[in-house]
Amino acid sequence: MKKYFSTIMFLVVSFIIILGLTYYSVSSSGSSFRTSSETASSTAVVLNTYTINTVATHSTPTSCWTTISGSVYDVTSWISKHPGGADAIISLCGKDGTAAFTQVHGGQPRPANELAGFKIGTLSK
Ligand code: HEM
Repeated sequence: MKKYFSTIMFLVVSFIIILGLTYYSVSSSGSSFRTSSETASSTAVVLNTYTINTVATHSTPTSCWTTISGSVYDVTSWISKHPGGADAIISLCGKDGTAAFTQVHGGQPRPANELAGFKIGTLSK
């Protein structure tokens, strides 16, 4: 009788442990799913799509946006830091700067790296 009792207790405890583990894995996979969808939606907030008309409304040194190869950049803070002078950047404000940028900096890693840090979105077609 004592032998049966311990066998039954063993089965009951195992069953509870299995139930607990199943619940834990289901609930934790659920929360990791939520986390990845939150990450995806916050990326969508950062990278907006802008028309060239919107870019054109940021055409001054106090708010200077430009578009280069289909991406939109807010380069306002770069105006005073550009090693090639402020005027080179001011000339891009509110406009497509693809030709000006690639003519001078095409294939150079440093300007491309710097530019990537100013990206705010993509240009709508
Ligand atoms: C937003 C666009 C631009 C970015 C992010 C940018 C970035 C840079 C960077 C990082 C350098 C230093 C390169 C190095 O020392 O290796 C540089 C230098 C220079 N940039 Fe730009 N640039 C931009 C647009 C332009 C434009 C449109 C022009 C010309 C119209 C221009 C003309 C120059 C010149 C002449 C230098 C050399 C300065 C010197 O070494 O004395 N840049 N630029």
